[in-house]
Amino acid sequence: MATRGLRKSYGSRLALDGLDLSVPSGVVYGFLGPNGAGKTTTMRLLTGLLHPDAGSIELLGQPFRRGDRRRLFEVGALVESPSFYPYLSGRQNLRALAAAGASVSAGRIDELLELVGLRERAKDKVSGYSLGMKQRLGIAGALLSDPKLLLLDEPANGLDPAGIVAMRETLRRLAAAGKTVFVSSHLLAEVQVLADVIGIIAAGRLVREGSLEALLTDQGVVRVRVGREQADATRAALDGIAPEIAVAGGGVEVWLTVHVEPSRAAEVNRRLAEAGIYASGLEAGTDLEPLFLELTGGGASAEGTMQGIAR
Ligand SMILES: Nc1ncnc2c1ncn2[C@@H]1O[C@H](COP(=O)(O)OP(=O)(O)OP(=O)(O)O)[C@@H](O)[C@H]1O
Ligand SMILES: [Mg+2]
Repeated sequence: MATRGLRKSYGSRLALDGLDLSVPSGVVYGFLGPNGAGKTTTMRLLTGLLHPDAGSIELLGQPFRRGDRRRLFEVGALVESPSFYPYLSGRQNLRALAAAGASVSAGRIDELLELVGLRERAKDKVSGYSLGMKQRLGIAGALLSDPKLLLLDEPANGLDPAGIVAMRETLRRLAAAGKTVFVSSHLLAEVQVLADVIGIIAAGRLVREGSLEALLTDQGVVRVRVGREQADATRAALDGIAPEIAVAGGGVEVWLTVHVEPSRAAEVNRRLAEAGIYASGLEAGTDLEPLFLELTGGGASAEGTMQGIAR
């Protein structure tokens, strides 16, 4: 799936300003951006709910043009809150959806209800479903026709932690089976544990795209904790290893942040040892959060808190 130069305005408000996405097949692609960045607008264009002012879309290797609705049979989508018949049960709603599209066996519907954890409530009216249950039903609906490409706009909305984990496993399994899963989120942490490839959008433009692995390598950090009086000597010992070494912390000990790949932690440690410096702490990890904030105009807290160090 790909877009080239996609533009869309709502009246005088420019929502997408030449969006170029390249989504490889068979991966989970995390489409990440802050509120108002243009994620839902992109999803509406990809599903034919809206037409672009300019630019082109390619779905499953073929151009997707205005009126090309048949192409969408191969695409499953959940954009905005799904609409269901409130007076019908979850199962009846999926049947109604199936009747409107490609034919689907009763077995498939039960399989999907099981998959999204709604089997026990399948006979209950949707009007009595919680927000998260409706969201789960929406995901089941998107999967109904066994699509090759799945477009999900903020599917984690309204899901509880167990529901988020279950959804993540489902999406990972679909990608492992060769499906392409394009999923939007405004939460970095969510995308970081889910996606193979990440595209970051801000103000209607793509600001970064690449494999999660490459992004994490780029954002690698090694942090060293030493006594305050050793900060200068430590900085000197590590001179030249990274363009800039930040010092943080106001107590008797300080943390020095060295922007190098995490795999170079041993090299950092050796340099310290050669200078006779014994660090009281050494951590290697990645710092995507400041990058995300910087790219999306949130103002980076460059000194880096320790929370980014996971993985
Ligand atoms: N129906 C609409 N009419 C007018 N402006 C709109 C409409 N839908 C979206 N916009 C504007 O387009 C821009 C992009 O909105 P969009 O909903 O695509 O963002 P988003 O990335 O999905 O945000 P969120 O994380 O809040 O869901 C915003 O400035 C928004 O105000
Ligand atoms: Mg949105």
